[in-house]
Amino acid sequence: MAALRVAAAGSGRALLNTPRSVQSPRANMSFASLSRGKKVALSTLGVLAAGGAGLALALHQSVKASDLELHPPSYPWSHNGLLSSLDHTSIRRGYQVYKQVCSACHSMEYLAFRNLVGVSHTEAEVKALAEEIEVVDGPDEKGEMFTRPGKLSDYFPKPYPNPEAARAANNGALPPDLSYIVNARHGGEDYVFSLLTGYCEPPVGVTIREGLYYNPYFPGQAIGMAPPIYNEILEYEDGTPATMSQVAKDVCTFLRWAAEPEHDQRKRMGLKLLLGSAILLPLVYYMKRHRWTVLKSRKIAYRPPK
Ligand code: HEC
Repeated sequence: MAALRVAAAGSGRALLNTPRSVQSPRANMSFASLSRGKKVALSTLGVLAAGGAGLALALHQSVKASDLELHPPSYPWSHNGLLSSLDHTSIRRGYQVYKQVCSACHSMEYLAFRNLVGVSHTEAEVKALAEEIEVVDGPDEKGEMFTRPGKLSDYFPKPYPNPEAARAANNGALPPDLSYIVNARHGGEDYVFSLLTGYCEPPVGVTIREGLYYNPYFPGQAIGMAPPIYNEILEYEDGTPATMSQVAKDVCTFLRWAAEPEHDQRKRMGLKLLLGSAILLPLVYYMKRHRWTVLKSRKIAYRPPK
């Protein structure tokens, strides 16, 4: 084409001997310029490659299906709402569950008795609770350690002196500290609730080693914790019927509070922030409009010189 045009133009330009651009065959390698057969071949190759990649992905996932775990459903916790606080009577019952059941194996080393004051118990009640335990303190003036009743400032007692002792007592499995367990597991309290209530018979063909228990929510399905709760495992001091799900719900609410003691405060601050900004934002907007009126309403016109 280019050559044709130059020839047709035919005037002095052609004589000027301008170097004509030589079209290399490479520049012409676009898809459109390929022959029909090559197009079909290339398209087939593309489709096959994409299909193969898809198949590989699908196979990869189905291979992983062997260690799939059941994901917990999301339960309608009463504290789920944007502005809803924790259920404090539930925290109180949950503490009772922790104390009477879970604390036999699980520590909560970041909680002190004083943390319960004003949350689930009165100060006098917590003092009485703390005094039930014996704390090693000291040294006294003779350099000896002594035991004394617990105080508000003492931390929750641990069931085992060290992780090795905990493992030795639990078939080698370490019961994790429960202080932050709700934040430390995917699914939070939904997961812990499902775990506590989810024990069942293993499906046909699945054998569970001695000392392990089948739980579909636990990664790997074989957990070293025996089913810790069942109906009527304890009697609530407030008379609530202690069904399995009630016990699990209460201890989960307690664990949520333990992991996030600022929960209620956080939501209250959020509400204050929303109210505050509901008043402030319109004012700021009004002020912005006010300040910018001059700039926004000016008119710039071009007057051509006469
Ligand atoms: C008899 C001892 C024992 C009791 C009682 C017990 N647990 Fe456990 N728990 C264990 C052991 C052991 C493990 C570690 C299991 C493992 O890693 O296989 C564990 C693990 C856990 C886990 C972690 C699971 C995970 O995802 O890693 C949670 C949560 C838990 N227990 C909650 C509780 C709660 C809540 C209670 C009280 C209602 C309780 N446990 C009572 C022994 C116990």
